[in-house]
Amino acid sequence: MTLARDRAYHHKLVIGQRARPGTFAAKIWHQSATQNNRPDVQDMTTWNDAFAPIRIEPPERPLWGLRWLRTVVANPMEAWPAAIYREPFVVARSMGRNVVFVAAPELIREVLLNQAEVFQKGELSERTLKPVLGEAILTADGAHWRWQRRAAAPAFRPEHVFALVPSILAAADRRRAAWQALPEGAEINLSHEMMRTTFDVILDALLMGRDSLDAEGIEKAITGYLSSTGWMMAIALLRLPPWLPYPGARAARRARLHLRDVAAMAVRRVRENRSGAGRLMTLLAAATDPSTGRAMDDQDLADNFLTFMAAGHETTALALTWTFYLLSLHPAAEQRILAEIENVTGGEPVTAEHVPRLSFTGQVIQEAMRLYPPAPVIARVPRREITLAGQVIAPGTLTYIPTYAVHRHALLWDDPDRFDPERFAPHVAEARDRYAYLPFGAGPRICIGMSFALAEAAAILATLLRSCHLRLRPAYRPRMKMQVTLRPAGGMPMRLSPR
Ligand code: HEM
Repeated sequence: MTLARDRAYHHKLVIGQRARPGTFAAKIWHQSATQNNRPDVQDMTTWNDAFAPIRIEPPERPLWGLRWLRTVVANPMEAWPAAIYREPFVVARSMGRNVVFVAAPELIREVLLNQAEVFQKGELSERTLKPVLGEAILTADGAHWRWQRRAAAPAFRPEHVFALVPSILAAADRRRAAWQALPEGAEINLSHEMMRTTFDVILDALLMGRDSLDAEGIEKAITGYLSSTGWMMAIALLRLPPWLPYPGARAARRARLHLRDVAAMAVRRVRENRSGAGRLMTLLAAATDPSTGRAMDDQDLADNFLTFMAAGHETTALALTWTFYLLSLHPAAEQRILAEIENVTGGEPVTAEHVPRLSFTGQVIQEAMRLYPPAPVIARVPRREITLAGQVIAPGTLTYIPTYAVHRHALLWDDPDRFDPERFAPHVAEARDRYAYLPFGAGPRICIGMSFALAEAAAILATLLRSCHLRLRPAYRPRMKMQVTLRPAGGMPMRLSPR
């Protein structure tokens, strides 16, 4: 990289309040960057880098050319500039275009709430998700989004979510039985196991008769499609046409066609009234737009089936995978969860009534989603010119809320890279700015499945943890990889033993 370009990059960083050397924020930042060797006070284990929860080492200087391409294809988060972890607002010039990173809670509130009408999902969603999900609730904008959101909202009322918990517990119990049938010390790929468990749950919530769908084939197709999204993003960021060939394009196309076939079959079941009373697809098929009376056609139903199937299981599975990973590094936190489960259940099997009372378990899941948010970035594009942090942002500028970086921001978190569930003790969490922690997003487009996901994660964790002991394969260091969601690249190998 030339010096001139380097200087230009730093000039392009638009900084609200810099973490100036010597200030409190700068000190926190310095400490967190150098603190991975600290003894872990909670666990009293010997602490060294091998036990520190993994983190991304962001580049201090912008990446260019082949290095940029390789990084974006492999893991786009590794191309994000280091400044976004310590500045409230950064405009980075990357490969000839401006990318805005919004990290200060008051500015995030502007984008996601106060000016939400101005911001759309934009080109990245268009290039990566729309080809497979179509114009469903996650990907649509404007009036088409609004009516779908209104139509789906009643299905996520607390009473519906509560009614789903027994089916969640049954799925967790099937997983527990399968694990208990394995020989002691057997190694499993936990991320795969969690995907299969949450997949069972979401299919049961969407449609009756999950056994009629080929879970293995669907999961393969989803993973296959998502593994190409790095290329799709790189091509979009370079403003190249979407039809451009790239490695894996044909496999991604095959995966997309397979998923569309599955969706068409699901819609046939719904139309033939075989999707089950109270199931989400039945509710969606019966829903109408209160202002126009419009109902969902087959295309809308298929798009939403795929959206709920993908958005409704991947993310929760990843939250659980990263939670188990952190518990494997922090046995004291695990012991505390086990004590809580015994206390709440009195030694009986976990029931739907117990789940909301597992408060420390919930804190651990929240902290896991802080360090490893399953949706690590929220991307938007302004429809018209807008001013943010005193800067004029042109229409069409890629605007990122980099959730992963916000959750480890030096100005917002004390010792950001450290695992500490006490950050989510009620009195601590209440004192925090709502927009400093957003694993489920915020504003009108906040995750519709949030309470479902939280209940599901706690129910599955409690069921599995109390009967199975999981430890990361010795000396294994997972790597993060963003493929729309934040996955452990190469899975999460864990050794199982009974408790
Ligand atoms: C831990 C689990 C989950 C996480 C971390 C998560 C995260 C998110 C985030 C960050 C968004 C906002 C995206 C944006 O603003 O661009 C979102 C939206 C959405 N999520 Fe989730 N989600 C989870 C579970 C679920 C579940 C279980 C379902 C369904 C059963 C679901 C369905 C949706 C849908 C349909 C949207 C689009 C909402 C809209 O645009 O109106 N999610 N999710």
